[in-house]
Amino acid sequence: MLRVIHVTKKFGELKAVNDLSFEVKAGQIFGIAGPNGAGKSTLYNLITGFYSFNGTIEFDGRNISGMPPFRIAKAGIARTFQIPQTFPSLTVQKAISVGSRFGAAGGLDSAHVNDVIQFVDLDNERTQNTGLLNLLGKKKLMIGAALATKPKILMLDEPMAGCNATEIRSLMDLIAKINHDLKITIIIIEHFMKVLTELTEELLIIESGAKICQGDPLEVVNDPQVIACYLGEPDAKRK
Ligand SMILES: Nc1ncnc2c1ncn2[C@@H]1O[C@H](COP(=O)(O)OP(=O)(O)O)[C@@H](O)[C@H]1O
Ligand SMILES: [Mg+2]
Repeated sequence: MLRVIHVTKKFGELKAVNDLSFEVKAGQIFGIAGPNGAGKSTLYNLITGFYSFNGTIEFDGRNISGMPPFRIAKAGIARTFQIPQTFPSLTVQKAISVGSRFGAAGGLDSAHVNDVIQFVDLDNERTQNTGLLNLLGKKKLMIGAALATKPKILMLDEPMAGCNATEIRSLMDLIAKINHDLKITIIIIEHFMKVLTELTEELLIIESGAKICQGDPLEVVNDPQVIACYLGEPDAKRK
């Protein structure tokens, strides 16, 4: 469904993404992890069309490299951001409506907006200003705004950041439900290994923009190279 083929992104001399290739299959929950600065958020920015890059990205068999962000969103790719970005003076309902206008053709679909609000369980907060939502509410709102675009793939960037165990559980359930009930393919960047091993079917580890390991999540997190990269042992990494 999504193919990243020999993709490289340089910021000056820094290769933030370095000859990276992988494929996400339709229906998967696909995890991405790696140390801070590994290039994970940059990769999302490349997939969603925010920066130019070398290499090829294909979505649904179409080359989307170089397409502007709004066309990529229309093609069915939605993302959330690492730092929750809400519009504090909008109501929950309005904020999710904004998402629905940004995405799929046809403009505002209020029935769909209502479905999304119920799906992310923000019905009771519908008329509240988003600035008054608690952390979990803000996260659900961000996911709801992305869902409002009717995506085929939802890309989440550290959705659990700052959350406690109860909030993490609730977001994990929501993400699994999006994948299972709405049949939306999910890519999730996350630091919590437990989240990745419980939620994802395939896990990609990147460091310094390059692939370290990819495969079954339980095998990947026990891979000596992956453990070494998290412990920061440069010698062990080269084995
Ligand atoms: N717009 C930018 N300009 C210059 N350097 C950037 C830019 N965005 C990210 N970087 C650098 O690219 C590297 C990867 O960053 P990022 O993708 O945010 O990592 P991660 O999300 O894995 O923590 C970092 O060294 C970061 O400083
Ligand atoms: Mg990041």
